[in-house]
Amino acid sequence: MTSTQTTETREQRVERLRAQGLLVDRFGRVATDLRISLIDKCNLRCTYCMPAEGLPWLPKDKLLTDDEIVRLARIAVEKLGVDELRFTGGEPLLRPGLVSIIDQVTDLRPRPSTALTTNGLGLGKIAAALADAGLDRVNVSLDTLDRERFQALTRRDRLHDVLDGIEAAAAAGLQPLKINTVLMRGVNEDEAPALLRWCLDRGYELRFIEQMPIDGGHVWDRHQMITAQEILRSLESAFDLSPDPAHRGAAPAETWLVNGGPSKVGVIGSVTRPFCGDCDRTRLTADGQIRNCLFATEESDLRAALRGGASDDELADRWRAAMFGKRPGHGIDDPSFLQPARPMSAIGG
Ligand code: 5AD
Ligand code: SF4
Repeated sequence: MTSTQTTETREQRVERLRAQGLLVDRFGRVATDLRISLIDKCNLRCTYCMPAEGLPWLPKDKLLTDDEIVRLARIAVEKLGVDELRFTGGEPLLRPGLVSIIDQVTDLRPRPSTALTTNGLGLGKIAAALADAGLDRVNVSLDTLDRERFQALTRRDRLHDVLDGIEAAAAAGLQPLKINTVLMRGVNEDEAPALLRWCLDRGYELRFIEQMPIDGGHVWDRHQMITAQEILRSLESAFDLSPDPAHRGAAPAETWLVNGGPSKVGVIGSVTRPFCGDCDRTRLTADGQIRNCLFATEESDLRAALRGGASDDELADRWRAAMFGKRPGHGIDDPSFLQPARPMSAIGG
């Protein structure tokens, strides 16, 4: 009877999900989307992410091996109910074993959906191989269509490579192809309508992301951040936006239909419109730490356990324990908020 479900308390729901072995937390959220950072290095130096000189990279012996990554992905899929894998970095295309990793995780059952978040450099060469290996989708970061701005923003003159990469990914069938854009005051804040026009013309889905306090150089300043509301206002100067009637679920992007649809644009208001209550993510860093939130201040060391001989069941239990203690929200607005000790490039976006 449905009445037993409607009268289920939060505690009962949590216990029921726990008994199923899922990655549930004490608020009843269930993590089914695993983000795996494959490498902390990057070949760009976006000002909102890294200082010009880069960051102290993780030593090789601390990085998980390809086999270790595949094993943990298998445990997540087979024992913990994870059904979506997203590979991130740093820049995941810099990981030599990427194609083989994708090939192996797409053999898991139940088959997880697979996606990659990349800056697009080198994607032109590898997009077809990734699609052949079973990769489903890509998100490419692109903050400007102007070569000089791109160079100022990423400290590298590589816009043409990114554009080539995007084209190759679309041609390889890695669709829907999503473009991620971060707007910054005085840098590219006027480009929202031009980027949207460019994406609409090519059938790409554009999503704007509010800049978050998670950068290696600790340059984030709330007043410099372009808010979701400002982004929408800017888009509305050129397009007619109406709320997307589709169910949002755990998706971080709020979407709008453009000029009546079917084209859409998304805005991820991580700071001003947090979606923590619906979060379904769990994160594995390149050095084998579980994080229950991008902004978590604690990590759970699966690498040590794994290299110490832990069984699959023991690793699964550690993972469950790490997720159970997830905080209700990121607390960026709380006066006691602390930036995570590690930057986004080491955690995975
Ligand atoms: N705030 C918001 N987005 C960021 N990204 C990297 N650093 C930040 C930040 N501080 C974006 C990248 C990429 C994705 C992984 O996250 O542009 O699209
Ligand atoms: Fe590299 Fe992405 Fe950071 Fe830019 S935002 S420096 S592309 S990891």
